[in-house]
Amino acid sequence: MPALVLLGAQWGDEGKGKATDLLGGSVDYVVRYQGGNNAGHTVVVGDQKYALHLLPSGILSPGCTPVIGNGVVVDPSVLLSELSGLNERGVDTSKLLISGNAHIITPYNVTVDKVTERFLGKRKIGTTGRGIGPTYADKINRVGIRVQDLYDESILTQKVEAALDVKNQILTKLYNRRAIAVSQVVEELLGYAEQIKPYVADTVLVLNQALEDDKVVLFEGGQGTLLDIDHGTYPFVTSSNPTAGGACTGAGVGPTKISRVIGILKAYTTRVGAGPFPTELFDEDGEALRRIGGERGVTTGRDRRCGWFDAVIARYATRVNGLTDFFLTKLDVLTGWEQIPVCVAYEIDGRRVEELPYSQTDFHHAKPVYEMLPGWSEDISKAKSFSDLPKNAQNYVKALEEMSGAPISAIGVGPGRDETIEINSFL
Ligand code: GDP
Ligand code: IMO
Ligand code: MG
Repeated sequence: MPALVLLGAQWGDEGKGKATDLLGGSVDYVVRYQGGNNAGHTVVVGDQKYALHLLPSGILSPGCTPVIGNGVVVDPSVLLSELSGLNERGVDTSKLLISGNAHIITPYNVTVDKVTERFLGKRKIGTTGRGIGPTYADKINRVGIRVQDLYDESILTQKVEAALDVKNQILTKLYNRRAIAVSQVVEELLGYAEQIKPYVADTVLVLNQALEDDKVVLFEGGQGTLLDIDHGTYPFVTSSNPTAGGACTGAGVGPTKISRVIGILKAYTTRVGAGPFPTELFDEDGEALRRIGGERGVTTGRDRRCGWFDAVIARYATRVNGLTDFFLTKLDVLTGWEQIPVCVAYEIDGRRVEELPYSQTDFHHAKPVYEMLPGWSEDISKAKSFSDLPKNAQNYVKALEEMSGAPISAIGVGPGRDETIEINSFL
């Protein structure tokens, strides 16, 4: 029965890939339920480093079945190149399952994503340019193409025609671009069909049967809580639901099946792309976090914006996801600061506010109220248990736990699988 959700508690890049990979050895299925190849998950196994975008991080654990759920958007060319890249490195990917109901990122939606951003100019979202937003928009508009459509040429042609009818008007008349030919898109998509076919399955049935058989299923979120289309810093968000409820709709599993929801929480905060970020630093501390933390996007290579830990956000993540645990990552990056500021509340137009404001205007005006916590200088990367940590590091973790509203059950002290302190077991 145990179904766990593992998701980002901030703006993405919290270390979900590492956390999923760590649990991958003990679970039967790892399921992506939303997002697409906008994700960039780095997994370090021994001296090998893997960058995964679309595939679930469980693909690196031989006993685990990786699943791409119905809520994911799939770029077939990225899927095939990611699979062949792993195969070349000796990773067996044959167990992968892909939902026939997952939507396809078509080449025209990648184009639309890029031209829309250009058109928005300084109001742009800073998307990853992977076609994510337009593909989800097509899904909601009921003109999307699904994986199963690759296996019926006539239906595929009709659907591409319907989608391009409107898009070509927009591309030619508004954006001054050339129209895209239906036949060209259909031909490209059909070219992927046979290679993808062995993986296509009724993943909803597979996952529910697995849960009935007492298998362990881990749902791996992409992006993070504050990038959620409903609960994030709209409109500076992604176009799906990375929050816990997304696991149910994006995989077809009922909420009664989920026993644990783990929020991955970085010991400081980062964000890529545009949008409000109260604790963002523009000084040498921000530069140092970026340098020491290696905060550069895995997908787009953009520098991540960096700032101090924000407990208001952590509390919000606990609430909207019903978090049962936190996995605190990158504590090692904070080694060397004499004092570490932690944002405990906001000041908004002269008022102290303890909880995340629902109003976009208020959030844009939010100024962090900091509490200073004493730092540590000892190397913590070899720590194996909580008591191995210097007292001030222990106190930093305890203070974050107190402020964030859920127990911190694991702590990352380095990128490797074994550079983790386990406090409470997840399984
Ligand atoms: P994801 O998108 O949430 O999977 O995170 P990313 O992979 O984009 O970014 C997290 C980065 O931090 C990766 O380079 C990881 O290898 C690295 N990382 C994860 N956990 C830790 C940790 O505890 N300490 C350090 N120093 N690096 C970590
Ligand atoms: P992982 O899974 C961080 C951000 C983009 C942009 C916004 C919308 O690695 O944590 P999109 O292309 O999704 O329409 O872009 O969301 N974004 C991410 N930021 N980590 C991610 O994924 C992200 N995926 C999207 O930078 O601001
Ligand atoms: Mg990432």
